[in-house]
Amino acid sequence: MPRLTGKTALVTGAARGIGAAIAHAFADEGAEVIVTDIDAATGQITATAIGATFAPLDVASEADWHAIAKQFPTLDVVVNNAGITGFEGAVDSTPPRHDPENAQLADWRSVHAVNLDGTFLGCRYAIRAMRAKGHGSIINISSRSGLVGIPMAAAYASSKAAVRNHTKTVALYCAGQGLNIRCNSIHPAAIMTPMWEPMLGNGPDRNDRAAAMVADTPMQRFGQPEEVAAIAVLLASDEAAYMTGAELTVDGGILAGSAATPAN
Ligand SMILES: NC(=O)c1ccc[n+]([C@@H]2O[C@H](COP(=O)([O-])OP(=O)(O)OC[C@H]3O[C@@H](n4cnc5c(N)ncnc54)[C@H](O)[C@@H]3O)[C@@H](O)[C@H]2O)c1
Repeated sequence: MPRLTGKTALVTGAARGIGAAIAHAFADEGAEVIVTDIDAATGQITATAIGATFAPLDVASEADWHAIAKQFPTLDVVVNNAGITGFEGAVDSTPPRHDPENAQLADWRSVHAVNLDGTFLGCRYAIRAMRAKGHGSIINISSRSGLVGIPMAAAYASSKAAVRNHTKTVALYCAGQGLNIRCNSIHPAAIMTPMWEPMLGNGPDRNDRAAAMVADTPMQRFGQPEEVAAIAVLLASDEAAYMTGAELTVDGGILAGSAATPAN
């Protein structure tokens, strides 16, 4: 028996990467899926491939969320997945500085607009769309970076930390309202998706760079989008009925230890 039969789920940033894998896994488990993204061309292709509906949505745009609420007034599952690092488009050019000494305010704000404002708007929409039914599951894709400091990606880390905290606020608010609307966050670490392209580059050292990026990961490899999607399926399903305000790491073990952990 598929685990999401009878549920309608909206996934943001679902054209590619982790969002596409979640949309795919939800469809496999019997959900009606709404794929949303700012990239309409790729989003439509992803939606068609899995028998889902596509709707354009810039998560940072309140007007776009109003349009989504009109089109889909009730829902069972919302995944706030859309996110940016701030390094997009910098594969072959000089990337913007995102350290706390040199970052530009505009760059800081644009990362928060998508990652944090987008999640706030997505949660607000979700609560309203689930209130009539009295139940639902909101899944926020935070990051390992929301749990530790990231010196060269300050806005990303800050926004993902705020997503973690807002998840708990939403969970408590919904429970306090007597609503069976659960809200949990997932914290992936290095998952191989197009998001990594600007960091890996196209140079001859690409493979070395990739290896270096997971050198400190106990499992010594990148994760796959499907390995995040499996956890989203669990949280979307009724199997997770008593889970709310929780944070689940999907990180190959990197947050299990620290530099203080003895090697042997
Ligand atoms: N890949 C990783 O290693 C990793 C690790 C931790 C957390 N995450 C988080 O997982 C989520 C998905 O990451 P990914 O690796 O699949 O990224 P990705 O760059 O491959 O895909 C992101 C998708 O979001 C869409 N998007 C970007 N801005 C948007 C906006 N304003 N509105 C709607 N859609 C928008 C893009 O078009 C794209 O389809 C992000 O929130 C990211 O921060 C990823």
